[in-house]
Amino acid sequence: MCGIVGYVGKNNAVDIIFKGLKKLEYRGYDSAGIAIIIDKKLEIKRSVGKLCNLGAMLDKNPISADIGIGHTRWATHGRPSEENAHPHTDPTKSVVVVHNGIIENYIELRNKLKKGIQEFQSETDTEVIAHLVKKHYKNNLLSAVQKTLCELKGSYALGIVCSEEPDKIICARQDAPLIIGVGKGENFIASDIPALLPYTRNMIFLENGDIAEITAEKIIIKDIKNNIRNRGVKNIRWDAVQAEKDGYKHFMLKEIFEQPRTIEDTFRGRIYPDEGRVYIEEIELEEKYIKDISNIYVVGCGTAYHAGLVSKFLFESFAKIPTEVDIASEFRYREPILNEKTLIIVISQSGETADTLAALRLARSKGCRTIAVCNVVGSSISREAMNVIYTHCGPEIGVASTKAFTGQLTAVYILALDWGCKRGKLTNKELRKYLKELWEIPLKISEFLKNANDVCNIAKIFAQKKHKRDFLYLGRHINYPIALEGALKLKELSYIHAEGYAAGEMKHGPIALIDESMPIVAIVIKKSKVYTKMISNIEEAKARGGTIILVSDKNNKEIAAKSEHIIYIPQTDEFVSPLMTVIPLQLLAYYTSVLLGCDVDQPRNLAKSVTVE
Ligand code: AGP
Repeated sequence: MCGIVGYVGKNNAVDIIFKGLKKLEYRGYDSAGIAIIIDKKLEIKRSVGKLCNLGAMLDKNPISADIGIGHTRWATHGRPSEENAHPHTDPTKSVVVVHNGIIENYIELRNKLKKGIQEFQSETDTEVIAHLVKKHYKNNLLSAVQKTLCELKGSYALGIVCSEEPDKIICARQDAPLIIGVGKGENFIASDIPALLPYTRNMIFLENGDIAEITAEKIIIKDIKNNIRNRGVKNIRWDAVQAEKDGYKHFMLKEIFEQPRTIEDTFRGRIYPDEGRVYIEEIELEEKYIKDISNIYVVGCGTAYHAGLVSKFLFESFAKIPTEVDIASEFRYREPILNEKTLIIVISQSGETADTLAALRLARSKGCRTIAVCNVVGSSISREAMNVIYTHCGPEIGVASTKAFTGQLTAVYILALDWGCKRGKLTNKELRKYLKELWEIPLKISEFLKNANDVCNIAKIFAQKKHKRDFLYLGRHINYPIALEGALKLKELSYIHAEGYAAGEMKHGPIALIDESMPIVAIVIKKSKVYTKMISNIEEAKARGGTIILVSDKNNKEIAAKSEHIIYIPQTDEFVSPLMTVIPLQLLAYYTSVLLGCDVDQPRNLAKSVTVE
């Protein structure tokens, strides 16, 4: 997620903005920049890499002003570079913009503007905003921004200044956080609380559709139609560390709760359920190639590998493409049979996992087309793959992967639907149905997360000493990989041994393990074709004294008799259910880890990215 800081007042904007951006470094970024207005002229400094590079620029040629905006960029459109770093201006360099979010229709808007011979300096979606504001500017910056926002589709937190009106910042918010810091004779804007805490604890949290005009003395909030909107001032009591975690106790919990938004950010601009349309701008595979794909290998490690296992069900069911999934460290040494019609998909949150990178290079050496599902723009894997579909999850700070996993599931789900349609294996009606199922997931997860405490209560029961030995996680079909993922989460966070198993395999050995001291977590989805089989497996485990924890659809009343510990989740179609069933398992692992006093965000022996073999 990008970081935004703005200032207008009696002190030095450059100093306040730079320090504010440093407070937002934890959000992750690949470039930074700052724009100020001096004597009604814009001055812009931008740099790639760490903020210290921008700091060095500012130290070399110190500048100061009483108004400015700054930005740390987490690249989504356009590689990390100085040209793509924010702030962005219009061709006359009178309007300057910083942006967090995704403008879905920026290509369409660029093409329209290009017809007006507007040259663009960057590959970003953001630059088009500066051009539009300038186009609409008739001596009223607020009105020009309101007209511009009418043309934008997507998400944005915006900070805008203009050399024609050097005493004001215009900011706007749609599906990306933006806060106003209220000072005395000075006012601030920021993406997040930590940037403002050193200067004020009085903050206004903008809502979707808010547009604010801010000067040193005044804050006016309106909507796109110029109606006044009233927003209260909140006094924030957090300390800086709490603020970085948005008030959550750990980054992992914050990232679990971010998933409704990160899933939405990952499908935003790529799926249109009502039209039955998928549009993945970054994937340049000809339709003929998609129709001719003979088979797919999906390769990854750990949680990313589990996302690959889910993708097998999607590529085979939706697109009818034979799909094999492999652990990267196995794939790279077993001389897989590959040919030019084999498509290789590598999945990696960090884009730096050594085994996954090596698997990608092996695939390319065999002449295979390659696609990366990746969360980090400019990472090795994203640069070396021929195509990349980015999961727009923002930096994942917790070592245990949560929001990146559901972002990966979202990406492969969209790819499978797109290819199923292009290969004539899905009707448009079916496509619209499955797209709608995905569209509704963020709201269903938000609904479920309101009851997260129910999961904490179950964790309290099982985190006690007598249950600390082993857990068994059972699932079938597309939720078998979720049983594996749930077990991995518990292992890596609470150091309790846990094993994920295909429920149908229980009788082939693991059932010997089951007794009163073994908790069994079972995922059972009512609308699944293996529902009754799953119920039988649960009965078998119960008959041997196992303590069952069920994850099941909330209107599945018959399941209530099967266990005293049930985590009810909103009902979803089976193919999209992994995005839902994994959430309670993430929470179960998180709360268990906290109750056992483990280091949730940095579990022992683990690294966020395994860049060595
Ligand atoms: C997941 O919780 C783990 N942190 C780990 O398995 C991780 O998924 C694996 O190392 C792959 O990392 P990547 O997605 O960055 O390639």
